[in-house]
Amino acid sequence: MTAARLDAPVKVTGRAKYGADHHFPGMVYGCVVLSTVASAELEAMDVTAAKSAPGVLGVYSPFDPLELRTPVSPLFGETWVPMQTKEVDYYGQAIGFVVAETFEQARDAAMLVEVTYRTRPALTSLEDGLATAEDAPPSRDGTPPTFEILEDGVESFDDAMASSQVVVEATYHTATQNHAAMEPHSAVAVWDDGELTVYSGNQGAHLQAQELASALDLAPEAVHTLNPYVGGAFGGKGRTSAPAFLAAAAARALDRPVKAALTREQVFTATAGRAATVQKMTLGAERDGTLVALRHDSWCSTDVHRAFVEPTSHGTSREWYATRNLHISQKVVPLNIPPTTFMRAPGEAPGSFALESAIDELAVALDMDPIELRQKNNSTAPPGHDLQWSSKHLDECFQIGAQRFGWAHRKPHGHTDGDWQVGLGTATAMFPALRFPATVGITLLDDDTAVVATSGADPGTGLLTVLSLVGGESLDIAPEKIVPRLGDSALPPGGLSGGSTATASVGTAIMIAATKAIDELVALAADPGAPFEGAEVTYADGRVLADGKSMTFGELLRAVGRTSLEVTGSSAPGEELTKHSFSSFGAQFCEVRVHKWTREVRVSRMLGVFDTGRIINARAARSQLIGGMIWGVSAALHEGLEIEANGRLANGDFASYLLPVNADIPEVDVHFVEYPDTLHNAVGAKGLGEIGTVGMAAAIANAVYNATGVRVRHIPIAIEDLL
Ligand code: MOS
Repeated sequence: MTAARLDAPVKVTGRAKYGADHHFPGMVYGCVVLSTVASAELEAMDVTAAKSAPGVLGVYSPFDPLELRTPVSPLFGETWVPMQTKEVDYYGQAIGFVVAETFEQARDAAMLVEVTYRTRPALTSLEDGLATAEDAPPSRDGTPPTFEILEDGVESFDDAMASSQVVVEATYHTATQNHAAMEPHSAVAVWDDGELTVYSGNQGAHLQAQELASALDLAPEAVHTLNPYVGGAFGGKGRTSAPAFLAAAAARALDRPVKAALTREQVFTATAGRAATVQKMTLGAERDGTLVALRHDSWCSTDVHRAFVEPTSHGTSREWYATRNLHISQKVVPLNIPPTTFMRAPGEAPGSFALESAIDELAVALDMDPIELRQKNNSTAPPGHDLQWSSKHLDECFQIGAQRFGWAHRKPHGHTDGDWQVGLGTATAMFPALRFPATVGITLLDDDTAVVATSGADPGTGLLTVLSLVGGESLDIAPEKIVPRLGDSALPPGGLSGGSTATASVGTAIMIAATKAIDELVALAADPGAPFEGAEVTYADGRVLADGKSMTFGELLRAVGRTSLEVTGSSAPGEELTKHSFSSFGAQFCEVRVHKWTREVRVSRMLGVFDTGRIINARAARSQLIGGMIWGVSAALHEGLEIEANGRLANGDFASYLLPVNADIPEVDVHFVEYPDTLHNAVGAKGLGEIGTVGMAAAIANAVYNATGVRVRHIPIAIEDLL
């Protein structure tokens, strides 16, 4: 199937109302005040001038806080909320909130707040903090930060490494990245008779409602959140944002609707980003390329509360290759910099830069084709696990990719084209195929349409359209007959857009709900007094049938005097987890051109071939992968926050934070090998939202090496690296 996104027309014509587009009578505006030091105790905040400025209704700070508790989210655990402490842990932390009749008045008054800090030494550099690194906490599934898998008869990992005929050892560095979604974090909060409604871009309406209820000490049913349109999220809107907490609490205190939106620059610090990493790779192999031992030691930055780990070792080397011996370690370095969080392929994105660069270095050391080396060490199951991959067609991805990309023409030292040195690079991509619990409601209506609803969010991923496509298929009616609904916490809980899970999770729940709806319909048709009383009724093509007669479900509902039939269906990961391991796979290819004299790097061709199960909407799927691959270019050649010693971001705005523009991106080719994975879920779809960005940065660095002979072991790669 290939369908245009249902929400595209309202988005591209500006009619879609995002959180901050909502207006209410009497609404007032909040402006967040940020810290200007990296580590301190707040000694005083003089708000006298701010409070008497025109239009000001409230000035809140840790000295005069809004009523908020540390919320506990069932999925994310504790979330930090502003103003509950006088500790300043990073430059750009939210420390105050000024509310006024207009945004301009709030902003002007915010500038009048005088802050006195008792400053302390700050640690702001990952490199400086390596010496005091700590073990990361165990990962979600309980895996300890450090572990080893040794083959029978091998005494120690070092023995395995020592017995390897060829050893490659190298250390890689990846930069801190900012979550820069188009829609800045913002919210409008409205109270009505003790009940709260919040309009705010988020990745799961039901989760946001739970977090807000917890923070405001309310019953869950007293909070209603709406996010039908989300202007990009990528992990940065998984947790509820500071403006949403502040707007909700201030609206309660002032008894007025409150809007709060971070400015573009505030998004750089008052939210959370991707951690910087240092990764040491040690690979031991036999002469024929067989991996004997693989060691991946990682360090990532984290905030002083150690709230998030970028799991590079656990996300990549733990599962990617059939090595006989494995050593994994993950350490964190708490820094006085803005917090880190989920960002598209957390772990895999920077982790694959290190692993897939190191595999390329091993191929060079072995004088072996890098695709051949990868295929030689293809795994049928994650190392140390008995459970085989449910469906893995990575070899085929490489075969098709090599053919499509003209890999056979690749020279060991690239080639030249006029003033350009040209090189080809490749890398593996993997991302776990996951599901989350999801509930979907289906309402069959007497006009022969059906509402398919789940709370969730569509942050540009195409989930709304998936509801129509899978709904139509499951109810055996045209997708145009489906009215999809999401982005509302009042709808059945499900459809979190995170972990590349939404299609598999929601799709399965839709199928279950549709089966129930059809069962109830068939029973209804045969009820006493119904048109098919006592008959053996079947269902197809939106119609109930028996004895050579048929009628649409809408006709049946009308005939029995009903306007609708409503069911819910729920799905959750279960028994399949005891039978197989699950992952999406891909092969990334790119061609780069490095200018002989200026040393600028241009990506001139890109191809990704992906094994992500069944594709529900080819057009949206392709867009997701293209977006991810472009983010890989961005990571490889553009993006990176520069943090000054005092903790201030030197390039914390869109004027100086480099991002690729259209001129940086060539034609992007995406191809799917389509093997529905029904061992994973009934729909057969595996996640594809995140895998597009995995491996691409390594493929680019590997292509740069092929073109120039210069191995750059950090991203972003700059002109200076190639002089
Ligand atoms: Mo994604 S980083 O799970 O939003």
